[in-house]
Amino acid sequence: RPVRLADYRPPAYLINRIELDFCLDPQRTIVASRLSVQKAPGTPAGAPLVLDGEKIELLSVALDGAPLPKDRYALDEKSLTLFDPPESFALAIRTACAPAANTALSGLYISNDMFCTQCEAEGFRRITYFLDRPDVLAKYAVRIEADQARYPVLLSNGNSVESGMLPEGRHFVRWEDPHPKPSYLFALVGGDLAAVEDSFITRSGRKVALKIFVQPQNADKCAYTLDCLKRAMRWDEETFGREYDLDIFMIVAVDHFNFGAMENKGLNIFNSAYVLASPETATDTDYEAIESIVAHEYFHNWSGNRVTCRDWFQLCLKEGFTVFRDQEFSADMRSRAVQRIKDVRRLWSQQFPEDAGPLAHPPRPETYITIDNFYTATVYEKGAEIVRMVKTLLRHEKFRSACDLYFERHDGEAATVEDFVRAMEDGGGIDLRQFRRWYSDAGTPRVSVREHIAPSGAYALELAQKTDPTPGQSEKPPRHIPIAYALYGAESGRRLAEGVLEFKEETGHFDLGKFDERPIASLLTGFSAPVRLERSLSLDDRLFLAARDDDLFNRWAATEALWRDLCLAFAGAKEMESREAALSRFEEALFAAMGEADRDPALAAELLRCPSEADLARNVEIIEPTAIVRGRTYVREAVGAALKDRLLALYERLRPNRPFQPTAEQAGERALKNAALALLVAAGETSLALEQAKSANNMTDEAAATATLATSSGPERREALDRFYARWKADALVVNKWLAWNAMRPEPDGAQGDSSLDHVRRLTGHEAFDRRNPNKARSLLGVFARENLAGFHRLDGAGYRFFVDEILSIDALNPQLAARLIAALDNWRRLEPHRRAQAERELRRLANAKGISPNLYEMAARLLA
Ligand code: ARG
Ligand code: ZN
Repeated sequence: RPVRLADYRPPAYLINRIELDFCLDPQRTIVASRLSVQKAPGTPAGAPLVLDGEKIELLSVALDGAPLPKDRYALDEKSLTLFDPPESFALAIRTACAPAANTALSGLYISNDMFCTQCEAEGFRRITYFLDRPDVLAKYAVRIEADQARYPVLLSNGNSVESGMLPEGRHFVRWEDPHPKPSYLFALVGGDLAAVEDSFITRSGRKVALKIFVQPQNADKCAYTLDCLKRAMRWDEETFGREYDLDIFMIVAVDHFNFGAMENKGLNIFNSAYVLASPETATDTDYEAIESIVAHEYFHNWSGNRVTCRDWFQLCLKEGFTVFRDQEFSADMRSRAVQRIKDVRRLWSQQFPEDAGPLAHPPRPETYITIDNFYTATVYEKGAEIVRMVKTLLRHEKFRSACDLYFERHDGEAATVEDFVRAMEDGGGIDLRQFRRWYSDAGTPRVSVREHIAPSGAYALELAQKTDPTPGQSEKPPRHIPIAYALYGAESGRRLAEGVLEFKEETGHFDLGKFDERPIASLLTGFSAPVRLERSLSLDDRLFLAARDDDLFNRWAATEALWRDLCLAFAGAKEMESREAALSRFEEALFAAMGEADRDPALAAELLRCPSEADLARNVEIIEPTAIVRGRTYVREAVGAALKDRLLALYERLRPNRPFQPTAEQAGERALKNAALALLVAAGETSLALEQAKSANNMTDEAAATATLATSSGPERREALDRFYARWKADALVVNKWLAWNAMRPEPDGAQGDSSLDHVRRLTGHEAFDRRNPNKARSLLGVFARENLAGFHRLDGAGYRFFVDEILSIDALNPQLAARLIAALDNWRRLEPHRRAQAERELRRLANAKGISPNLYEMAARLLA
C-alpha cells in the first residue's frame, strides 16, 4: 500500500516526553517505555491512538498506572491501537526484541558484540511502540542497563546524568536529551569501546567534549576524524552562523551499517569505513570521504535536527541542504574546482542515470511503498544541486541571510520543502514560483544550444529546453534554469564577457553583446544547473575550451567529453569524424594539460583520468558491453603509448615518498602520480606498478598500484592481489578494497582462464566475504554489477542469474541492502536486445519470488514498470 504526500495529516496525538528503560541482552532485550500523551488540538474526543511497532513482542501495556483491559486495545503486525483514550495520559509499555537476530540492521542490533541502533527512517518502531514519524517531537530520558564487564560503555543522546553499579555484575547509565526530537534521531550504543577524546570551544564560549568511540584496537585510527569534526564545527559557525548546542558530541564506529553514517542527536553512529584512518590503511580518497561525511552528519545538527522534516516526502529538505553544506565545506578545505569536479562526477554517475531510467523520481517524491528506497542520488545529490542553484539565483550574501531566516523561523519545528523555498524567497527577495518545479518534477532537462553571429559581430544564443517523460509524469513544463557562461575570443583567448542567464521558457533568445572577434562560449560554467547540454562544437573549439577555459570545471568537462567521445568512437558507439586524427590531437592536448601539473596537480590528475566503463555505458543509447570495453581499452593504450615518455618523467618526478600527510596538497600529487601510472600500465608498463605496490609507504600508493594491476590482464595481476590479501587479511576495511578489485577483474582473452563471474562466485565462499556485512556485499557484488561491464553483462545471462540469486539470499537477511543492490540493474532497458531479454527474465524471476521483502518488491516492480 503506497503512502502519498497528498494524504499527509498532522498527528492525532502528541507525545512530548518519553522515558525509556533498556535491559540489554543480545537474545532478548526488554524495553520499558513511559509516554506522556496528549490529544492534539482538533482531534475528536475518543479518536483511537495508533502506535507503530514492528517485530517486537508486547509484554504489557498500562494507562495511567492501570493495566489496560484487552478490549481497550488491538494489536497487529504493524501497530498497537488504543481505543477511546483520555485527552491526556501516561502510557507504560513493555516490549521485548532480539538484537542478535536483527540482520536487517534497522532498530536495535548487534555488530561485533556491540549494541547499536539505526532508527532513520522507521527503525524506532522495531524498538518500542511509538508515533514513529518525524513530526512528533519528544524529550527523551533513557536508562540503559547491561552486563558491566561485557558492555562497559552505554551511550544515548544528550547528557549523561547518572550511572552506577547493580547486583550481579550489571550496571546502568541514565541519559537525558534536553532537545525535543523525532524518534528517528534516537540512538543507543552499548559495548566494550575505547574513547578518543578532545574538546571544542564554541564561539560563544561553550566547552564541548568530543568523543569518538571505537573498538579498542582501532583507537589509533581516530585522529583525523577528530580533526575533521573540529574543522566542521568551526566552519559551520563561520559560514552559516550555526553553533553546537550540547555539552558533548559523540561519534561511534560500527562495522555493520547499511549506509555511511547517521546524525542521531549528539550521538552520531558511523559506518567504521568513515571513521577509521591511518596512512597505512586509508587512501586519500578514504580521508576525503571521512572529512565530508563527518561534516555532513555534524551539519545535520541544524539542517535536520534543530529543523527537522514534517514527513519523509520532505527528505531532501534535510539531505539536499546538508549535502550542499558538506560540499561547500570540502570545497573550502580543499581545491574548490576539483571538489566541484568530483561532486558533478558523482551526480553524473549516480543521479543522471537514475533520472533517465525506470527509477526516476522527483527530489520530493509523491508516493512510496518503502521510504528506505528513496535515500537516493536524486534526493541527496540533485537536492544539493537545487540548493546550489538557489544560491546562484540569490547571490552570496542574500543566500546567507535567507538561510539565517530559515533556521530562525523553523528552529524546533518539523518543516517542509515549501517552508525552505519560502524562506529563500523572503530572505532573498526573489520569486521562486517556477523554480519549485525542480522539487516536484523528475527527469533531467536537456538544453540545446544554437549560436548566432550576425555580420555586425552581435552574438546571441538560442536555447531550447525539454525534459523527457518519467514514470508517472508525462507533462514537463519548462523550468527556471540558471545558465552561467563566459565568452572567450577565439583569437586572443581573452575573456570577453560572463554572466548568468535565467532561462525559463521552452525556448529563449539571449543577446550577449557585440564583439570584434568570434566568441567561443563556455556554457554552464561551474555546472550551474543539473541539465544535459546538447551542443555541437567543432573539435577546435572543444580543444580550445579544454586548454584555456578559466572555469576549471568546464575545462575538465571539455576534456572529459573528449575522452568519452573518443572511447565511444572506437567502440563504434558514436560517430566521430576522422577519429584517429582526433585522437592524436587529443593526445597533444593532454600533453599540454600536463603542463598544469605544477600549478594544480589534483586538477591535472582529473584531466588524465579516462572515464570508467560504466561512465561510458551511461552515455550511449544502446549498451554493447564488449564494444565499450574494447573502445576504452584501445584509447587508454593509445594515450598511454603516445604520452609514455612524458608520463614516465612525471611519474619519476612525483615518485619520491614523503612522509604521508592526508593534506589536499599531497593528495593531489599522489593522485597525479597514480593517474600517470594507470596510463603507463595501460601501455604495458606493468612492472612499475608492481614495484610501487611493494615499496609504497602508504595505502594510497599501494592501493592505486594494486588496483591498476587488478584491472589489467598482465601476469602481475595475480601476484599483486595475492600479495595484498596476505598483507591485509586481518583488516576488514582494507580487505573490502581487495574484494572490489576482484570484482573488477577483466574477462580473460579468448577461452582461457576463469571468467570474472566464476571468480566472483568463488569469492562469495571466501573467508573474506560475508553477506551480513553491507560493506562487503557492496564491495564484491555491487562493484561487480555496476562496474564490471563485460564480466557482469555476459551474453548468456549468467551474470544476471548469479546476481539475482545473491540478492534473494541477501533479502532474507537485510531487505534494505538487497533493494539498494538491485538498483544496479536500472540500465537494463538500454542493453542490446539479447542481454536485455536475459536481464528482464531474471528481474521477473526476482519480482515473482515468494516471500520477498516489500523493499525489494517495490524496486523490482519499478524496474520492470
Ligand atoms: N540521514 C543519514 C544521512 O544522510 C542516512 C540515513 C539513511 N537511512 C536510510 N533508511 N536510508 O546522513
Ligand atoms: Zn544526511
